[in-house]
Amino acid sequence: MKVSFVLNGKPVELDFEPQETLAEVLRNRCHLTGLKVSCEVQVCGACTALVDSLPVSACTYLAYEARGRRVTTIEGIGDSERLHPIQKAFLDEFAFQCGFCTPGMILAAKALLEENPEPTDAEVVSYMDGNLCRCTGYRPILKAIRRAAGLMRQQEAQSPPREGETASEASGGGRFRTHHE
Ligand code: FES
Ligand code: FES
Repeated sequence: MKVSFVLNGKPVELDFEPQETLAEVLRNRCHLTGLKVSCEVQVCGACTALVDSLPVSACTYLAYEARGRRVTTIEGIGDSERLHPIQKAFLDEFAFQCGFCTPGMILAAKALLEENPEPTDAEVVSYMDGNLCRCTGYRPILKAIRRAAGLMRQQEAQSPPREGETASEASGGGRFRTHHE
């Protein structure tokens, strides 16, 4: 089947089998390997991608469900020349060791901070509940998200509002809303 969507800001039309997951399509057909697959049962968050700015577990999200939507992977939010503030904060706070969970953590944090630019620690912990890390003990991740929130608020204060878009429209509101509605 042929399916069109916007991938990391660019329109794409991809040909894949109806049973293929978003993780399979992104990794195997688009060669976007930042997204990792571990548990394959929507528990660990390593496979997190954003669909219309909301985090989904790409290991169980069927790729055709992305038809007409905006899909974002870690490759689409920044690069080595221009890091996203969350990537910068994770580096500054040493919020990773093996890095396996990191792309998913950063994308989930991005969704959180677009929905709630000034979360409390409890709100961060609750929102990030679906992203597991075996290495860091979570403390540096929490510090990185706190730091990223400050950087993003600073950036937002310095840039003019985007035309026709409000923060709530950008985020859509609500974690994992797009899971098999
Ligand atoms: S691999 Fe998808 S949630 Fe673990
Ligand atoms: S840094 Fe290794 S699993 Fe999180």
